[in-house]
Amino acid sequence: MGKKSLVLVFLAVILLYPISITAPQEPPDKLFLEKCAPCHGPQGKGDGPAATALNPKPRDFTSGQWKFGGSKEQIIKTITGGVPGTAMPAWKASLSPEQIGQLAGYILTLSQKAN
Ligand code: HEC
Repeated sequence: MGKKSLVLVFLAVILLYPISITAPQEPPDKLFLEKCAPCHGPQGKGDGPAATALNPKPRDFTSGQWKFGGSKEQIIKTITGGVPGTAMPAWKASLSPEQIGQLAGYILTLSQKAN
């Protein structure tokens, strides 16, 4: 390794270091932050920026209470079809079944952390 590449490695370490120390231990699902957090909040507490304007309010996933059932299968169903008459969209058009399955698992970890 030449001197130049050593300097580059050094720079990369300095630049990336703050990211690695500020990131939470379990990096939250990026998909959730992107698609769901505007309503459900970055921690799934139902307090996203859009939540104040909504009625009914987006679910607080950390409450451990489910309106449509808290099993993985039922959560997948809710995400896939949405909740008609509320702000909760059906995601089947924009997310793959795999992504919806991952999100359901992620939401369950949020609710389990609270209990
Ligand atoms: C535009 C706002 C909005 C977005 C974006 C949104 N939701 Fe929702 N969500 C809601 C609202 C409002 C409800 C509550 C519906 C009700 O109480 O009947 C809800 C309810 C739910 C429920 C039902 C839980 C229960 O009690 O059974 C699940 C699961 C859910 N959302 C998952 C998601 C996931 C996963 C995403 C991202 C892919 C997402 N939501 C994105 C607004 C949103």
